[in-house]
Amino acid sequence: MKSLVIGDDLAEKLARLLNLEAILIKERIFSDGELQPRLQKEKKADQIILILQKRTSENINDYLLKYFLLSRKAKDLAKKVVGIMPYLPYARQDAVFQEGESLSALYVDELIEKNLDVFITCNMHEHRKRIKDLFKIPAHNLSLFKDLAEKFQDFDSKETVVIGPDREAKTFVDDFCKNFSAQKLVFLKQRNAKTGKITFSYSAKDLQGKEVIIVDDIVSTGGTILEAAKIARQLKAKTISFAFIHPIFGNQSVESLRKINPKRIITTNTIENSKYKLDIVEPLAGFLKKMTQL
Ligand code: R5P
Repeated sequence: MKSLVIGDDLAEKLARLLNLEAILIKERIFSDGELQPRLQKEKKADQIILILQKRTSENINDYLLKYFLLSRKAKDLAKKVVGIMPYLPYARQDAVFQEGESLSALYVDELIEKNLDVFITCNMHEHRKRIKDLFKIPAHNLSLFKDLAEKFQDFDSKETVVIGPDREAKTFVDDFCKNFSAQKLVFLKQRNAKTGKITFSYSAKDLQGKEVIIVDDIVSTGGTILEAAKIARQLKAKTISFAFIHPIFGNQSVESLRKINPKRIITTNTIENSKYKLDIVEPLAGFLKKMTQL
C-alpha cells in the first residue's frame, strides 16, 4: 500500500520513522482572516496520514479549520485518510451544563471525522465521554503516560510517590505506573464554581523523604498542579516533579511551574513548545505500525 504523510514538522519526523514520503504544507492568511493551507506538492496515494501540531500562537479555531481543509483535500487524493490530532480541541466541552449550550465536543468531532477513515489523538480528556462515544469512525486515544514514566527511571521506586490531583487522574497514575513501580496517591479536587478556588482532600498524612511526581493530562492555568504541589510540600515531600501531556500555553505553562522549584518537569510536544522532553512522534510511529497497513 502506498502511503504518504502530510502536515508540518511532526509529519516530517513521522514520515522519517515510518520510511514514507512527507509532503509539507504552506500557509497563507488573507486579510479577512481566512486560511489557505496548501500542500507543497500534490500526489495521489492509497493512504494519507495527516498530522498537525497546534502552534502556541495559533487560535484553536484556526487550527481546527486548517485541519478540516487539509483532511478534505486528502480525501480527494487517497482511498483512506488517517487523521492524527495530538491535542484534540473542544474535548473538555463534553457536557451540557446549562440549557441552550452546545455539546461542543460531539459537534466538533462530527466535523473532524467527516473526511477521515481513522482518527488518533493523545490523552484526550475522557472526563464524562469516552472517545468512542464521540466518534463514529474507528478512533484511538493513545496514552503517553507510560512514555512519560520512562523519563523517571532513575528514581528510587521505594521512595517515589506518584500523585494524581483529582479523581479523573487515577487512570493517569495507573497508566504512568504500568512499568514503573511506585506508591500511588490520588487527591480529590473541588473547584469553587464562584471563585474558581481549588481545594483538595487526601488520605496521606506524611510524604517525608519522598520523591513526589505529580501527573496530569493538561496544564492550562497551572492552578491544579501547583495547588497539588503545595500540599505535597506541606506534607514534607523531599522533592517535587511534574509530568503532564498537554502544555496548553506552551513554554509559558511550563515556566509557570518553575515557581515551585521542581526537581524535574517532563511534558510533550502535542502542542508547540520548546521545553518538551518527550517527543510524541516515536510512540505515534509505533502505534501506526501496529494498527495500520503501511
Ligand atoms: C481537569 O480535570 C484536568 O485533568 C486538568 O487537571 C485541568 O484541566 C488543569 O487545568 P489548570 O491547569 O487550569 O488547573
